[in-house]
Amino acid sequence: MLDDKKVLFSGMQATGSLTLGNYLGALKNWVKLSDDYQCFYSVVDMHSITVRQDPATLRKRARALMILYIAAGIDPEKAVIYFQSHVSAHAELAWILDCYTYMGEMNRMTQFKDKSAKHADNINVGLFAYPVLMAADILLYQTDLVPVGIDQMQHLEICRDIAMRFNNIYGPTFTIPEAYIGKVGAKIMSLQDPTKKMSKSDENPNASIYLMDDPDTIRRKFKRAVTDSEACICYRDEQPGIKNLLDIYCACTGTSTEDAVRAFDGRGYGELKEAVGESVVAVLEPLQKRCEELTKEKSYIDGIIKANAEKAAYYANKTLRKVQRKIGFPDRIR
Ligand code: TRP
Repeated sequence: MLDDKKVLFSGMQATGSLTLGNYLGALKNWVKLSDDYQCFYSVVDMHSITVRQDPATLRKRARALMILYIAAGIDPEKAVIYFQSHVSAHAELAWILDCYTYMGEMNRMTQFKDKSAKHADNINVGLFAYPVLMAADILLYQTDLVPVGIDQMQHLEICRDIAMRFNNIYGPTFTIPEAYIGKVGAKIMSLQDPTKKMSKSDENPNASIYLMDDPDTIRRKFKRAVTDSEACICYRDEQPGIKNLLDIYCACTGTSTEDAVRAFDGRGYGELKEAVGESVVAVLEPLQKRCEELTKEKSYIDGIIKANAEKAAYYANKTLRKVQRKIGFPDRIR
């Protein structure tokens, strides 16, 4: 692709309020990755409607997430950032791939099982076919690398299976994507149960730091963070609460774990919590300001949305046309 760089694809949903975990674990790294790869970062709004959404809220959140991508430092001239729903090739390829995917394969997806248990009143076909749409996302851009968390690994595996199956029947069509295993982002845990991942769907608001939390809320949540009774600031698995606080501190300040442990040696948990809270405020406050400023620049953001959707559609359509030709759809008359 462009400049012979490898292609990297990822997407994020605009549902729920994004947390510090989403930022430190994913978004912050997306910025760095866009120096080395040709990146496509999608706001995957089509995935969001697999569970019921309020239209006005979805629209607002999707745009806010796009603004957050930019505020976080992703350069919209370099990486292609776009709404999935603006590039119709996603839906078209997803349909085609549906016809090359077996019910049995989708049936064993653990996320489908979890989500259908959670939304028992709305187990729709879209929820079932969710991984096929995700495969279409990835394959449309001839993606080499996909940075995914462990929870999306199964979906990436199925994407590879579908791509290989298609290539076997029709000859080389899709690049077979691989998981990006590089220096991954910090894994941020819940502040109330540090053995669980920090999640935007946690019922306890004190468990998560939301990216839009104000400074006092952030400080208060850290003050209440669950620790232990060891009275030792050590970095070890037996003290998951302290370990998580140190991880957050290091991710926010760029300090190494050893240096942080040394700096806090002999100090109390209260002091640690305060320092971590301040380090988070120092990261999130400017990010929130940039979001606020960008939100006001409507025509600038609109311009980015339009130009990037066109860029994405250009690459996506190239792959889609190739697929359509291979499977025997009639040529387009120009
Ligand atoms: N399913 C992913 C998630 O919920 C989001 C996603 C959609 C995605 N399409 C993708 C991630 C393609 C990586 C590649 O986290």
